[in-house]
Amino acid sequence: MEIHRLEKIWIAVSLLFIVGLIASIVYGVAGVGVGTVGDTGQQLDPSALDDTEFADPGGHWASEDHYVVHVVARQFLFQPGTQEPITVPANTTVTFYVTSPDVVHGFDVVGTQLNTMVIPGQVTEFTTEFDEPKTYGIVCHEYCGAGHQSMAGQLVVVP
Ligand code: CUA
Repeated sequence: MEIHRLEKIWIAVSLLFIVGLIASIVYGVAGVGVGTVGDTGQQLDPSALDDTEFADPGGHWASEDHYVVHVVARQFLFQPGTQEPITVPANTTVTFYVTSPDVVHGFDVVGTQLNTMVIPGQVTEFTTEFDEPKTYGIVCHEYCGAGHQSMAGQLVVVP
């Protein structure tokens, strides 16, 4: 039996909608001068972060025009971020590497499209650029235990 033409159109529209939804989840894109959010697929032993770059998390210049930040998200703080802010330069390519030694956390830079899961044993990588000096809040948006609500920090973009 032939499918009514309108029905075909509606099926196409709903398929497009589903594909769009999936795409929007897979690719967190664009916003306040923000690039693509991705996952390196880089693995590490979550119980042995001390043997990695995450032993001394924080930011450093990888080259003259590329800044790199390592962040550990753990129950219930960001290192750096919570006790001291993450500081990054404006108008510079910044790559974040984020991991967790315990459970799944979130890393959400409030007011931007930077929003990613942080999974123990994996390194989440994303590269972005901030247009202007500004202070952003960071929150964990994945329930991670009793202190989840208080898991927050700051990201300071400096001139
Ligand atoms: Cu960490 Cu919620």
